[in-house]
Amino acid sequence: MIRRPNEVWQASADDVTPKPLFMNRRKIIASAGALGLAGLAGCGDGQSAASAQTPVGNHSPDPQRSLSYTASDYRVSAPLTSYDAVTGYNNFYEFGLGKGDPARYAHRMTTEPWSIEAEGLTERPGRYALQDLVNFDALEERIYRLRCVEAWSMVVPWIGIPLASIIERLQPSSAARYVTFETYLNRSEMRGVRYPVIDWPYREGLRLDEAMNPLAFMAVGLYGEILPNQNGAPIRLVVPWKYGYKSIKSVVKIGFVAEQPETSWNLTAPNEYGFYSNVNPERDHPRWSQRTERVIDGGVFARRDTEMFNGYADQVADLYAGMDLIENH
Ligand code: MTE
Repeated sequence: MIRRPNEVWQASADDVTPKPLFMNRRKIIASAGALGLAGLAGCGDGQSAASAQTPVGNHSPDPQRSLSYTASDYRVSAPLTSYDAVTGYNNFYEFGLGKGDPARYAHRMTTEPWSIEAEGLTERPGRYALQDLVNFDALEERIYRLRCVEAWSMVVPWIGIPLASIIERLQPSSAARYVTFETYLNRSEMRGVRYPVIDWPYREGLRLDEAMNPLAFMAVGLYGEILPNQNGAPIRLVVPWKYGYKSIKSVVKIGFVAEQPETSWNLTAPNEYGFYSNVNPERDHPRWSQRTERVIDGGVFARRDTEMFNGYADQVADLYAGMDLIENH
């Protein structure tokens, strides 16, 4: 990972939200006519849309898949990664290891009907229909940078609800200290699971106070539409201050436990992937540097400096006060 002298752009500390950019929150109805604007993430600050957020590429949204949502103050002021890259360059190992495999094969996954099982230390265990856990009338858009552990990043306009709203519904009991997540597993629909790269199903976890942080988000859509299967339909986690692999896709189980849970990558390679997985330019992956990242869609040599907590330190650094973040990587 060599840092090029001709970096296309440099991030500054004020690249990251939340910012009171919008005087008025407004409801964006993502109809065919409004979708151009919806994709631009509610530039309600009177600036020209182009100066505030310029999507790369030319996505023409499908009215059949559009969602209704509100713009939010959570946004990175960097160009959006194109729809084609966001939905064509993916990690979803259940469908294969290649970046194009999820777009090629994930349509085989059945996402309707969908339910999520709540288990463990919760006052309300049981199976919930997706619509019972997610209030589709209260969706908001958040433009977050997703920083993959592979040292590349994207800026994605996600649509969803705070993870905290789901946790509050499920009422973890007082002994719960961690929340766990599990991905759907279906051997006939997921060609990648024949390879034992991971002990399937894919599993993740967060400390409960991390999960309750307002930045932690459950996405059901992106770019104005319901999630494409390759991005984790119908519901996936987005934890913007952690490496992308914490953002588990196609969630079918949410559990609450007292002890730090095992997670898929932690089990696969414990020296490479720790439980916390906070974006940290100071802690190299054993096989490569984490100091910079390739900006997907940003041009051939587009790199930026990786920021502590992916630029969200103001919102999350307190969660780790007093902890050695190299040891607890
Ligand atoms: N979730 C499941 N179930 N399986 C996976 O292989 N890959 C992770 C994460 N969630 C993965 C997953 C990794 S490594 C990344 S970088 C992000 O998904 C990628 O999300 P995206 O494809 O929507 O950009």
